[in-house]
Amino acid sequence: MTSKPEIGIGLVGAGFMGRCHANAFRSVGGLFDVPILPRAEMLADVSEDAARRNAAALGFARHTSDWRDLVADPGVGIVAVTAPNVLHEPIVLAAVDAGKAVYCEKPLSVTAQSARRMMDAAEGAGVTTLVGFNFLRNPMIRLARDMIAGGEIGRITGFRGRHAENYMADPAAPHSFRTDPQGGGALADIGSHIISLARFLLGPITEVSADCQTLHPMRPVRAGETETAPVEVDDMTHALVRFDSGAAGSLEANWAATGRTMELSFEISGEKGAIAFTQERMNELHVWSGVPGRQGFTKIEAGPAHPPYGAFCPAPGHGLGFNDLKVIEVAELLNAVGGGPAVFPDFREAVAVQETVEAMQRSSAERSWMRVDLP
Ligand SMILES: NC(=O)c1ccc[n+]([C@@H]2O[C@H](COP(=O)([O-])OP(=O)(O)OC[C@H]3O[C@@H](n4cnc5c(N)ncnc54)[C@H](O)[C@@H]3O)[C@@H](O)[C@H]2O)c1
Repeated sequence: MTSKPEIGIGLVGAGFMGRCHANAFRSVGGLFDVPILPRAEMLADVSEDAARRNAAALGFARHTSDWRDLVADPGVGIVAVTAPNVLHEPIVLAAVDAGKAVYCEKPLSVTAQSARRMMDAAEGAGVTTLVGFNFLRNPMIRLARDMIAGGEIGRITGFRGRHAENYMADPAAPHSFRTDPQGGGALADIGSHIISLARFLLGPITEVSADCQTLHPMRPVRAGETETAPVEVDDMTHALVRFDSGAAGSLEANWAATGRTMELSFEISGEKGAIAFTQERMNELHVWSGVPGRQGFTKIEAGPAHPPYGAFCPAPGHGLGFNDLKVIEVAELLNAVGGGPAVFPDFREAVAVQETVEAMQRSSAERSWMRVDLP
C-alpha cells in the first residue's frame, strides 16, 4: 500500500479559531479521502511560552514566537492564519511571497484596500487561497443553494438575513482586536458571515443603504479594568440590500443582541416557495411549499442525502456541529492543494465581502445608497 504524501501545516495563533483549525487538520484524514495528509509542523503564538504550551497541547512538532520563522520554514506548505485581524496582511503577504498556500480566517483584512493587496499578490503568485467563511460548508446551506439555483422556489422575491450574537451586549465587555477602529466592529466581524452567505445563495450584492450604530460609546480598555476608551466601531448595523439578480432584501449584523448566541439566519422567499434557516438549528432547513390548503414549512433534517454529512455519520438526524464545518473546509483545501478543483471562498471572494462591508459603512456615514465596488 502506498502512503499518501504529507504537507506541513504552520498555524499562526492558537486561540478560539487556532484550536478549531488544529482539530480540523487532526481529524480530516480519518473522515475524508484527501489526496494529501496534513502534518502539524509548526505553531506560532505571541510569546515563547504561549507557543510552546499551545504546540504541545495541539500536537504541533515545533513552535516559534515569531510567525516570520514559521512562514519561511521549508517544512511548512500551508500557512493557516488565525491571529487577530490586523496581523492578517503582513502574515499573508509573507506567506504568499514564500509560495505557500494560505488559509486565512475571516475577515481577510481590516480594509478592502488591504484585502485587495493580498488578493493581487496571491493571484500574481498563483498560490491557493481560502478564507474561513465556514458556515458555507453546512450541507443544509449547500442544499438551499441547490434548491434556489434549480428554481425550486421560483424567482427570488425577498431576502432577510441576520447574524446576531450577544458577546458585546454588556457595556462592560472590553475592547479587543474586534473593536479596532481600523476595521473591526460587528459588521466586519460577524456581518461578513451573513454577507458571504447572502452572496453564496443569491449572488453579488451591488447596492446598499445602511445604518451603523454604536450602542455602547465607551468600553473598558481591557478585561477587568476600570479605565475606559471610546468605541469607534458599530455594535449593530441594519442594511437594505439589492442583488445583481434584481432581488432585494435586508440584512442585520448585531453583536449586542441580548439572548442570541449564534443566530446566523435567513429567510428567502420566491414566487413558488420559501426557505428558512438558522445556525441555532444548523441541521435543519425549513422549506415552504405544497398545494393550497396543505401549504406550510416542512423541516428537512440533515442526513447522508446531503453531502458530505455521510462522511461523519451514516444515520440522518444525528447532526453535525460547528467544528465539523471546519473539517469540511479543510478537506476542500487539501483537495485543492493536492491538485483538485480550486477552493472557494478565495481571496477574491473575501475582497467582495469586505467591499460590501465598506459600502455599508460609507452609506451609513453619508446617509445615502452606495454601490459596492466589486473586484
Ligand atoms: N470563522 C469563524 O467562525 C470565526 C470565529 C471566531 C474568530 N474568527 C476569526 O479568527 C481570527 C482569530 O480570532 P479568535 O477568536 O481565534 O481570537 P483569539 O484572541 O481567541 O486568538 C488569537 C490568537 O492569536 C495569537 N496572537 C496574537 N498576536 C500574535 C502574533 N503576533 N503572532 C502569533 N500569534 C499571535 C493570540 O495569542 C491567540 O492565540 C480572527 O480573524 C477572527 O475574526 C473566525
